[in-house]
Amino acid sequence: MVKERKIQIAPSMLAADFSRLGEEVRRVTEAGADLIHLDVMDGHFVPNLTMGPQLVKALRSYTELPFDVHLMLTHPQEYIDTFVDAGADLITIHVEVDGQLSKMMDGIRKRGVKVGLALRPQTATSEVEPYLADVDLVLPMSVEPGFGGQSFQMNTLDKIDRLRNLIDAQGLDVDIEVDGGINQKTAVLVGRSGATILVAGTAIFGSDELDRAINTLRELASSGE
Ligand code: DX5
Ligand code: ZN
Repeated sequence: MVKERKIQIAPSMLAADFSRLGEEVRRVTEAGADLIHLDVMDGHFVPNLTMGPQLVKALRSYTELPFDVHLMLTHPQEYIDTFVDAGADLITIHVEVDGQLSKMMDGIRKRGVKVGLALRPQTATSEVEPYLADVDLVLPMSVEPGFGGQSFQMNTLDKIDRLRNLIDAQGLDVDIEVDGGINQKTAVLVGRSGATILVAGTAIFGSDELDRAINTLRELASSGE
């Protein structure tokens, strides 16, 4: 019997129509999303470029949902304030970046924004474990960051299991987010392992009925079946 946890769905705007991103944010909001996931890439930490703070700010008026900003940047410290000013409610940085992680996480928290810590598929959970008590969210990436539409890497399930056990054993209130290759099949698996926030791009924006896609992912992840 799997303990039932509240599951939240965060559509990744990377899979939306970039020529009308504001409307797309409104559309997923009306369809019942819990958070808006915004992927920020610098062409260095990952081989792709996406959106900057000006775009995030421009989207702010299209929804009241929290902005979940995933920074795939080699030097996130230079941009934290800018993304807070642009309207981020949660900022996730990668454990693999250059610089002092604790200082960066403090910088995010001091601005009144939630803190997330992400790890690439090849990075061991031991890298983030020392920080669990200092974060609101941990994000074991289930694909190599940079692009949407990739297949879920199954080794992520063991990482989620381990993180869930550690978080529960320490009595912490930390979400486990999972990002990459989430669909109806993998939603069940990550829910069973203890993920609480599911990011999905292709599975949501590739569907004709956004509300049904969002609700189905939430239900499947909650059911543990
Ligand atoms: C990849 C991004 C993901 C991506 C997920 O670097 O962090 O948010 O958009 O896309 P799907 O759901 O299509 O795998
Ligand atoms: Zn992401």
